[in-house]
Amino acid sequence: MCGIAGFVGSEPAAPMVFKALTRLEYRGYDSAGLATISRGHLWHKKGVGKLPEVQAQLNLDKMPGTVGIGHVRWATHGAVTDANAHPHLDCRGRIAVVHNGIIENYQELRASLSPTHRFLSETDSEVIPHLIEAHMAQGMSLEDACYHTSRQLKGSYAFLAIAASEPDKIVACRQDSPLVVGHSQGRCFIASDVPSFLEHTNQVTYMEDGEMVVLVPGQATFYNGLKGDLREPLAKEVSQIDWTLEDISKQGYDYFMLKEIMEEPTTIRRALEQDRQLVMDAAMDILRARQVVITACGTSRYAALIGRYLFSKLAGKFCDVVMASEFQYFSDSVDKNTLVIAVSQSGETADVMEGVRRAKANEAQVLSIVNTQGSSVARASDRVIYLDCGPEMAVAATKSFVSQLAVFYLLAYAMRSRLDEGIAKLKAAAGAIERELKDNFKKVERLAEVTKDRADYYFIARGANFAIATEGALKLKEISYIHAEGMPAGELKHGTLSLIEDGTPVVVICPQDYTHAETLSNAMEARARGAYIIGVSDADHEAFHEWIRIPQTEEVFYPLVTVIPLQLLAYYLALARGLDPDHPRHLAKSVTVK
Ligand code: AGP
Repeated sequence: MCGIAGFVGSEPAAPMVFKALTRLEYRGYDSAGLATISRGHLWHKKGVGKLPEVQAQLNLDKMPGTVGIGHVRWATHGAVTDANAHPHLDCRGRIAVVHNGIIENYQELRASLSPTHRFLSETDSEVIPHLIEAHMAQGMSLEDACYHTSRQLKGSYAFLAIAASEPDKIVACRQDSPLVVGHSQGRCFIASDVPSFLEHTNQVTYMEDGEMVVLVPGQATFYNGLKGDLREPLAKEVSQIDWTLEDISKQGYDYFMLKEIMEEPTTIRRALEQDRQLVMDAAMDILRARQVVITACGTSRYAALIGRYLFSKLAGKFCDVVMASEFQYFSDSVDKNTLVIAVSQSGETADVMEGVRRAKANEAQVLSIVNTQGSSVARASDRVIYLDCGPEMAVAATKSFVSQLAVFYLLAYAMRSRLDEGIAKLKAAAGAIERELKDNFKKVERLAEVTKDRADYYFIARGANFAIATEGALKLKEISYIHAEGMPAGELKHGTLSLIEDGTPVVVICPQDYTHAETLSNAMEARARGAYIIGVSDADHEAFHEWIRIPQTEEVFYPLVTVIPLQLLAYYLALARGLDPDHPRHLAKSVTVK
């Protein structure tokens, strides 16, 4: 999972590409680099560190030329070193390539090239410029060479290539990794996602697997690489994106994560503006399907677990939730009578996409719940419900989670033919969250300060709230690097209780619902063994050392309100420990490798 970007036009490319990379940092931030062409010469600079660190040392945005490509890396093959950073070059330093994905057959390709080519890195990606070099040495153009190279690659890739011998041109190929082209008068943009060039254009074309594009100033020509015909350009649709620059800026907040948490009441309301017919049709599909399987990863999977609960509780429809990375082991049971619901903020998660492919191969119907417009999961689905919560820039998912919940609520109410009631109740919940946000800041911030040096955190809950406990633990691990576990409250005494020491923080999620009394008993058990109990509830209790108050709501809506203090807790713990909550180490926002 890396971010790649390219620009060709008549003005300097490096500032354009550099700016695009600043927007792609969520996809990888262990090293960065750029290549440009000027006066027949290929320039390249790259180094280890977050983009601002590399920029401070190398002035990436000052490189000459009107064509350029750039990369932010999330290491897969090879350590985080200058040599492994992209761009990678051919032997003569005349061809540069940036790559996102994994080349599965790189070892055999490298072995076949090694006798005559000089490799400088440990990466899988470096075979690409050398393959292009080998083809161009036989007289091929850059596009022919890229096409033939792409046919030799196994695995996933989105790569951009430039060559000093063919200035003013970028060639790009896509297979299983996202690429989108931005159209603008006299220039062309290309990147892993739309926000990278949104300030210049909202007119975009999404590339499909097997496609290649040749970009020259003001013109993008697409080909279907798989069909092998480079003389027949493809007619491709241009889509208009309705995201704004405001959506992708911090708007005065220090970090995107806090901005995105603060947006949650608004994003719930935005999720409610769905096309009614779409929601009703999707609800009918769910009711009619012989079996329904929801598949997702990470935070999206926790939203799915709550969705499963809502379908069962509100509409009496049982369904299963399968972790997307495990979906392939169950896919034999998926057939044409199955509805697969794929949930993904990015719509580019490789595991989710693989699940969608397998579902389609078995003739199942696919409904996706996705945030990113035009993403791979959305385009591969029979029906799509968009979250419409605007781009989520922080690596930790927050607003997309509550928007996913909002969509599950809508579907569950629609399944009971009570969509209007669902919408009204969700609007009220959004108002309650707005008030809650104001109340909880100070308390959670102080709590983070008090517990910031603890090695472990536990989150316990029962019923649907269990998914919130696991989500709270995931958020905490992800950005504060404190070990955390979320578990059903009743399970604590079956083993984990032995880990409780004096002062171990245990977050007890116990709204006044069907889980209240039993969860409190488990909290008392933990307290009796020295735990420092942080209660997340609408009622105080003697079990709590600290009480984080949430608004009272109807029972089924508690997951919407209990998750927010947990997101804030993770955020403030990251700050208290001197960490950058937007860019946690080793992680990337969009996990496009399996
Ligand atoms: C959430 O904070 C994580 N960054 C991660 O678990 C994420 O939810 C997961 O990778 C799935 O991403 P998706 O929703 O874009 O498919």
